[in-house]
Amino acid sequence: MSLLLNEIAVAAARLAEAGVDSPRADAEQIAAHVHDVPRTELHRVPDGAFDPRFWDEVARREAREPLQHITGHAYFRYLDLEVGPGVFVPRPETEVMTGWAIEALREMDVTEPLVTDLGTGSGAIALAIAQEVPRSRVHAVEIDPLARQWAQRNIDRCAAAAPHTAGRVTLHGEDFSIALADLDGAADLVISNPPYIPWGASVPPEVGEYDPATALWSGTDGLDAVRVVEQAARRLLRPGGLVAVEHGAPQGAAVYWVFAEERGWQDPRNHRDLAGRDRFVTAVWPGHGRWEDERP
Ligand SMILES: C[S@@+](CC[C@H](N)C(=O)[O-])C[C@H]1O[C@@H](n2cnc3c(N)ncnc32)[C@H](O)[C@@H]1O
Repeated sequence: MSLLLNEIAVAAARLAEAGVDSPRADAEQIAAHVHDVPRTELHRVPDGAFDPRFWDEVARREAREPLQHITGHAYFRYLDLEVGPGVFVPRPETEVMTGWAIEALREMDVTEPLVTDLGTGSGAIALAIAQEVPRSRVHAVEIDPLARQWAQRNIDRCAAAAPHTAGRVTLHGEDFSIALADLDGAADLVISNPPYIPWGASVPPEVGEYDPATALWSGTDGLDAVRVVEQAARRLLRPGGLVAVEHGAPQGAAVYWVFAEERGWQDPRNHRDLAGRDRFVTAVWPGHGRWEDERP
């Protein structure tokens, strides 16, 4: 076995001991990052090229710093996003909701779908939609100035790497409760992964110590921001427009009632993530939008 593969095995054991969920995968990704090779080429790194900075990065992960802060990158659908201190690290669960939205937008009979991403963080959802739904226009709202810097960086990088997305994602520094008033009644889709952790809940160190507080906590039942997003979606959607909102696994039943038919929504549905846990709710807005209000 090569020196590097041997060091990876030792590092994986140390990470497992520290309580890291996927110790082997994380050790390999750190090795690939430090040696600047794809993970599939790690076995080809000559012993003489072993870089001892590997152990510095392993120690950071052992202290439960998120892998994505160490490598500086998070992968989200077909995107390679830059992340670090001050921005929420996008999660695989959110890829599932984003995939649902992309399919729904493709099925809509709309030439230039208008989308709002409420609480965009790194820009993950907004950029994936712009990349995968031709001619979509996405308005991404983010209240936190530090997170907005990461989002703008990713918007610029994505425009350079995939020029068809250039100019199709617009970032707004607003509170989503009042954001985008000029688009009221016009959005085809409102999507959001808002903060949804109840105050005082216990979270892993990677989350509690590194994700920004504004991205996490949301009232005693965790649903304060979901309720605000529901109000914003009523305002922003055109009749027949769709909403998709992520939530925590135990919150499926409660979130269903936020978007219930009794409250004016149509066809509310719970959806699961890849692990089979309740993860996001979708509904249709049948109400009167701007166009109907303006009719004589
Ligand atoms: C859970 S993170 C999700 C980030 C990103 N959409 C993702 O899925 O990776 C929630 C984001 O919403 C932002 N946020 C929280 N409250 C907000 C508000 N009232 N208005 C605008 N953005 C808000 C936070 O700063 C954070 O970036």
